[in-house]
This record gives sequence, structure tokens and C-alpha cells, in this order.
Amino acid sequence: MQLPSFVADFTLPPMVWHEQMLEWCSTMRATEPVSYDERNGQWRIFRYADHLRVQNDYATFSSAPGAQENQESGRSILAMDPPRHRQLRSLVTSAFSARTIAGLAPRIEQLAVELVTSHLARGELDVVTDLAVPLPILVIADMLGFPRHNWAAVKKWSDSLVANFSEDEAEQDASTSDLAISMFETIARTIDARRRSPREDILSLLLAAEVDGKHLSDDDLYIFIVTLLVAGNITTTQLIGNAFLCFERYPEAWQQLRQDPTLVPSALEEVLRYLPPNRGTGGDRVIIGGRIATSDVLLGDQQIHKGDIVQVTTISANFDEEQFPDPLKFDIQRTPNRHLSFGHGIHFCLGAPLARLEAKIAIETMLRLIPEWRPGDQTAVQQIRNHVVFGTKSFPIQFERR
Ligand code: HEM
Repeated sequence: MQLPSFVADFTLPPMVWHEQMLEWCSTMRATEPVSYDERNGQWRIFRYADHLRVQNDYATFSSAPGAQENQESGRSILAMDPPRHRQLRSLVTSAFSARTIAGLAPRIEQLAVELVTSHLARGELDVVTDLAVPLPILVIADMLGFPRHNWAAVKKWSDSLVANFSEDEAEQDASTSDLAISMFETIARTIDARRRSPREDILSLLLAAEVDGKHLSDDDLYIFIVTLLVAGNITTTQLIGNAFLCFERYPEAWQQLRQDPTLVPSALEEVLRYLPPNRGTGGDRVIIGGRIATSDVLLGDQQIHKGDIVQVTTISANFDEEQFPDPLKFDIQRTPNRHLSFGHGIHFCLGAPLARLEAKIAIETMLRLIPEWRPGDQTAVQQIRNHVVFGTKSFPIQFERR
């Protein structure tokens, strides 16, 4: 299979790209559900059931490139298999549980209200750059215990790491050494400070934690922090932005939410299904859902060999008619809605409760403060140029000044 050219065409408006993607995925599900992608040298899977199989069978489909190598240090939990994965993930499970995360709601609400209120007098706001970008980074930096004056820098670092998967050469250049060094230095300084005087934050929790009677190495701590910063930042931004792409396309959904804001959580699940923030077309790297075969195995009617990369295509699974009746319908009350946008199995997104809460509060705040809006400059609504994440760089809206 050759990837169709539109897949890497970042000049297409987001919804146009999305429609072409849906059409292609539908054909692939019907004709070649397990297919070898020549350009990226990896298998792509398109059906929901195959996604479950790959993500459930972690012994055969490993998340650890070089799976049999030493897994001791310097890896993200995303790229680990059990037992090490279980040990490290369990260290932060409590900090990310739905219950603990719910306790953050008042602080997130306060941030969201501040971010939106500051634009009310102008009658214009960019839902992505003014609200969806700052909100997640402010929250995760706070949870990690980074000094508050560093928030803007943390955001820059985190984006620069994702820009490593960017198409944009300027972004890639900006993402290299200088930022990485300064990030490393700040994290190292913050680790030192927390060692001397622990607080109630995730960094202090990780410093106190022991695995097999040993504290985490500085490498493990650093990677853990970087994973949390990167995994939870741009993805949540795009979820909020993608929600507005959907509301613009389906204005009746917004009106329904105005009448009944208790529908916001289920509307967000439908946004996650319909416009997943993870693009699923991948580059040549194994991240967000990709796996490596640890033995020869038959998947569908294809023989996968040991060492082959298997890449999931989340958006295709989310529109599989075997799983979702009337999949093309954007239905904010869809029940059940077992989309795979947060992954599945042992690597199911650790930050899902946080992403859900942040997005819920962002939408509720908009419903309350700007219930009536119209789309602004449409030329600004462009895909972000990134092989991993899907969404819009910008979503300007206009409304009555207050
Ligand atoms: C894992 C998506 C937000 C932290 C994952 C995976 C997906 C995903 C698909 C599974 C990857 C795999 O199976 O290889 C998303 C989306 C988000 C989001 C769509 C927003 C809408 C967050 C947030 C955080 C976070 C807010 C934390 C602050 C993580 C971590 C993992 C992960 C640590 C690795 C879990 C493991 O390997 O056990 N995410 N994520 N994510 N996510 Fe998220």
C-alpha cells in the first residue's frame, strides 16, 4: 500500500483532510484492513477489532522498541512493557485517578474563566491560542510543581519536543539543542529543590517512590516529567480546538449544549471519536499506539514477522461500522461510545481523566461566558503541521463585546 498524497498535505483545511481520511480509511477497512505501508516501513491496521487485539496482546505486540533489551532506565512508560511498565505507572496512578483529578476542578475553572474573560471586551477570541493552548500547560506545570514563572517556558519546551515530529523545518530547528538544554537544567533544578523540601506535587511523589527498594534514577525522573509534559499538552489543546471544529460544522450540537450543559461530557466523547487528536498516520517512529511484533504472528490474513512495526490508525477504528452504528453521524448523545482515542489496554491514557476535565471545563466556560459566537477569519483555521497530532492551529471567533 502507498499512503495517499493527501495524508501529508497540511495545506488542506482540517475538515477537508478529515473527510478524505475517512473515505480512504473506509476503503482500507473493506479491502486491506491489515496493510503494509511502504513509505514508513510498517504495517497499518484499520479495523477496530484488530486494534483491540494488538493493544490487548502486549506480549506479542510490544511497546518497547528493542523489546528484549535492558528496560531499566531512561525510557518513557509509553515505550515499556510489563513488569517495568506496571511498576512505574503505578507510581503515579493515584495522582491521575478520576477522584484526585476531580479535586483540581476549582483551580482549572478559575484559570479558564480568567483566560476567556480577558477577551470579552474585544468581542474576539481565538479558542485555540487564547484558551486551549494555555489551559493544559498551566495545569500540568502546576501539578508537577514547576515554578509558576516558568509556565511560558514549559509550554515552549513541550511544544518543541512535539515539533520534532513536525513537517515544518523552522519548527524543527527551533526545537533542537538550546531549548532541550534549558529544559533539562530547569527540571534538574526543580528536582534538587524538591529533594531538599518536598511538597504536595507529582515530582515530590516520584522522588519519594521506590521500585524494588530503589528510588528512581534522575534519568527516569526526567523522562517521566517530559512524558507528562508532552503527552498531556498539545493533545488536550487539540481536543478543545477539535470540539469547536465540530460545533462549527454541526451548530445544532452547540445549541443542544446551551439548552442542556449536562451533555458536555458525552459531547466530548463524540468529539474524541469523530476528530481524534492523534492523527494516526504516523511518521516512521513508533509512538501513540504503535507496537513491535515480538514473534511471527498472523494478523487478519497477513503474516507479520518478528520485529515488524504495527501502527494503529485510531480514526479508522473510531469509524468502524462493525462497532459504531451510523459512524458518520456526529451524535453528542452516542451510547455506547467506546472510541479508541485514548488507546486501549495497559497503556490506556494515564491522563484521560485530566484531559476530559480540562476540556469539559473549557467548553462549559465558553457556554457560560460566550454562548453566542460566529466563526472569525477562516483562513486562520489550518491544520497543525505535525505527523502525530491532528487539529487546528487556530479557531478565531467573534461575539458581542461586553
Ligand atoms: C497514553 C492519547 C491527554 C499522559 C496515551 C495513549 C493515547 C493517548 C492514545 C496510548 C498510547 C499507546 O497505547 O501507546 C491522549 C489524548 C489526550 C491525552 C488524545 C487528550 C485529549 C493526556 C494527558 C496526560 C497524558 C492530559 C497527562 C498529563 C499520558 C501518559 C500515557 C498516555 C503518561 C502513557 C501511559 C502508559 O504507557 O501506560 N495517551 N492523551 N495524556 N497519555 Fe495520553
